[in-house]
Amino acid sequence: MVSRVIPVEPFDLVIFGGTGDLARRKILPGLFRRFCAGQMPDEARIIGAARSDIDDDGYRKMVAEAITEFGNGFTCEAKTLDAFLERIGYVAVDATGTGGWDELTSRIRDGVVHAFYFSVGPSLFGDIAERLHSHGLAREDARIVVEKPFGRDLQSARALNATLAEHFREDQIYRIDHYLGKETVQNLMAVRFGNVLFEPLWNAQYVDHIQITVAETVGVGGRGGYYDKSGAMRDMVQNHLMQLLCLIAMEPPSKFEPDEVRDEKLKVIRALEPVDPHHIVRGQYAAGGDEASYREHAEDPRSTTESFIALKAHISNWRWAGTPFYLRTGKRLKARTSEIAVVFKDAPHSIFGVDAGRHRNVLAIRLQPNEGMTLDVTIKEPGPGGMRLIDVPLDMSFADALGEEAEEVTDAYERLIMDVIRGNQTLFMRGDEVEAAWAWTDPLIEGWQNRGDVPKPYDPGTSGPDDSMMLMHRDGRRWRELKK
Ligand code: BG6
Repeated sequence: MVSRVIPVEPFDLVIFGGTGDLARRKILPGLFRRFCAGQMPDEARIIGAARSDIDDDGYRKMVAEAITEFGNGFTCEAKTLDAFLERIGYVAVDATGTGGWDELTSRIRDGVVHAFYFSVGPSLFGDIAERLHSHGLAREDARIVVEKPFGRDLQSARALNATLAEHFREDQIYRIDHYLGKETVQNLMAVRFGNVLFEPLWNAQYVDHIQITVAETVGVGGRGGYYDKSGAMRDMVQNHLMQLLCLIAMEPPSKFEPDEVRDEKLKVIRALEPVDPHHIVRGQYAAGGDEASYREHAEDPRSTTESFIALKAHISNWRWAGTPFYLRTGKRLKARTSEIAVVFKDAPHSIFGVDAGRHRNVLAIRLQPNEGMTLDVTIKEPGPGGMRLIDVPLDMSFADALGEEAEEVTDAYERLIMDVIRGNQTLFMRGDEVEAAWAWTDPLIEGWQNRGDVPKPYDPGTSGPDDSMMLMHRDGRRWRELKK
């Protein structure tokens, strides 16, 4: 099977912060892959814009190096790399001053899609938007792309939305949550709404609970400064886990169109109940192996920022009343595993008696590694000796099922940037969604700050603090094992 690649329209993409980490690690290698896949037309142009005083050739060299360093071994013929680099340019721009803006403006062509990627800190969003406007670049059909963190609370998110709204309409603003660009995350929607099998059972009557886990083995490393002001709640739950929760819990949209999907997600966020403080567990990793503790990374020996969080959330609506959603995410854990598990209720009556034990269907959707789906089904244990039951997985890895096509799966950033050029906002967060997510998150953070709550230490290579296990055990449930 060979996937169809439909080229996008010709475009000018300006990357503010074009020499920065995100541009080098994700955006530029991703664009290169799309170029090699034939998705980028010959007339496409990419312009890096940043403070560094380099020229087009200097930037091309940096781009080539970034592709080698962060391209995950992806290669293409040398002449293709040269052709890609010919489409790259650079303008040294002062985001808060006047330098470089006339030059940048002169490079923007008429008759192509205009996209401006703000790969810079949010404090520069206003300055850049203002300058795009004053140079006539904030045109009717221009698009801007902004990254998380989109604010650090409701107030700052509202302020950012208001700043961008001064010069751009909502349908011009693309707020990236890279989790929405992941293949399996989109598969969630395909599985739910493309099959007749699951939807009738997808509610509180049949679902006992849902677990959403995003576990990482890495620590905060060199990002301690940023992370310590953020913590797992702001860094992961408010955005990535929230988006997964929305896709799992939302009502079927009438169409797979931007506002239809985002309206349904918004309803889920607004239906989230405040979380009981007893249902939140925060943790912080201790030193272990060769790696320093969280506090050493954060360079604050008294930091009370969490590198792990687990919580139990409830959605007050007809579909989900009474079904808890358990969320957990953390760094320096036992395995890099991200999955969503829908744990169904027991059969209403066991004809096999109590000795048959307790068996439950579990649908697990694996985001990473080894993307795929598993459905645990109860069957008879083979052999004589009566009716003993066991649970076996119907296991599908997308790589096995789809072969080459699964290998061609695009990285989240590649897909999302192509969606910007196509003008499709379905996989981007709308301003009201982001604000609603903060409105739910803020009181939880304020609550633990007011209580002077200190995160529980946990050893690296574990599943987080013991209290996280207790959160489940108290309810007669358990987390799924973090498998390496
Ligand atoms: C980022 C967070 O948004 O997502 C990081 O800031 C985190 O702290 C990362 O490590 C996880 O993304 P992925 O795609 O590796 O699961």
